[in-house]
Amino acid sequence: MEADTLIKIQAQFAQDVYEGLSASPKHLASKYIYDHKGDLLFEQIMNLPEYYLTDCELAILKNNREEITNLFLKNTTSLNLVELGAGNGKKTKIILEELQKQSSNFCYVPIDISNNALLKLKNTLSIEFPNLNVSPKQGTYFNMLKTIESSESTKNVILFLGSNIGNLSHSQAITFLSQLAAGMHSNDMIFIGCDQKKDPQTILNAYNDPKGVTEAFNKNLLHRINRELDANFILDNFLHWESYNPQSGTAKSFLVSKIDQKVQIAALDLELKFKAWETIHTEISQKYDDELISELAKAAGLQITAQFSDDKKYFKNYILTKTALQKL
Ligand code: AVI
Repeated sequence: MEADTLIKIQAQFAQDVYEGLSASPKHLASKYIYDHKGDLLFEQIMNLPEYYLTDCELAILKNNREEITNLFLKNTTSLNLVELGAGNGKKTKIILEELQKQSSNFCYVPIDISNNALLKLKNTLSIEFPNLNVSPKQGTYFNMLKTIESSESTKNVILFLGSNIGNLSHSQAITFLSQLAAGMHSNDMIFIGCDQKKDPQTILNAYNDPKGVTEAFNKNLLHRINRELDANFILDNFLHWESYNPQSGTAKSFLVSKIDQKVQIAALDLELKFKAWETIHTEISQKYDDELISELAKAAGLQITAQFSDDKKYFKNYILTKTALQKL
């Protein structure tokens, strides 16, 4: 990453921490969990038996790979498979393998802010898929999307897997989808993974693992503030608490102060006071149904044109396309 990009990201982190922890109630943005340690903890979460999301989405991709890739290749001879967030490629490899069987004229374009993640992915792909045309792009999603050719003849399919959309509020999700839609042609598609509403206990268990990995994942925010902003949070003075509202479908994560305490963040010249049982809201993980996805899509000028589910109906992948403009 270029030095000035890094400085900008650091300055934004400092500002967001300042504003979030000075607010009432206190909050921090979950995107800041993902430093090197946060990435490793999330990998561990994806392997937890309680965290059903990953296996459900893998099953959907495996069981429907032919139908999915047929839809991707429909009405085009040239395809860009653009993935937002590089990840470890485990799920995408199922699609890549199937696409290679059906077509030779496609390019895989993973976009990620982390150059490291992209290099790792590129290396594993070059071994497992030596003939694959890969064009990694390092940067923010929207800056990089602008650089990808999209035309009537080259179709762009945008992958956004893992229910990552669930970490956005509804209004953020609509803004995000609208921005994607703005760059899409009528033939382009979004292939998006969305965790579904289900037995509330199953959801709570997924975000409350007994090994404490999810707790460590949330507390990584405090760890990161200690390290990068010279703060003195004592992690044991906070507990992780998960809630789920089955009516709205919103799972919310909190860190709760166990005692009255003061914390100094030297780099921000800030002293924080916590009352016992005061909260820091750290993450939302929204759960969906078809109605909610339709509403969000519609507000962004998109519509559901296909959907795939696992046997238990825990998770769905939707294909979203642009809504045709009404002729006056
Ligand atoms: C990345 N994201 C979709 C995960 C989720 O399920 O909200 C992050 C996560 N948080 C706790 N466990 C996993």
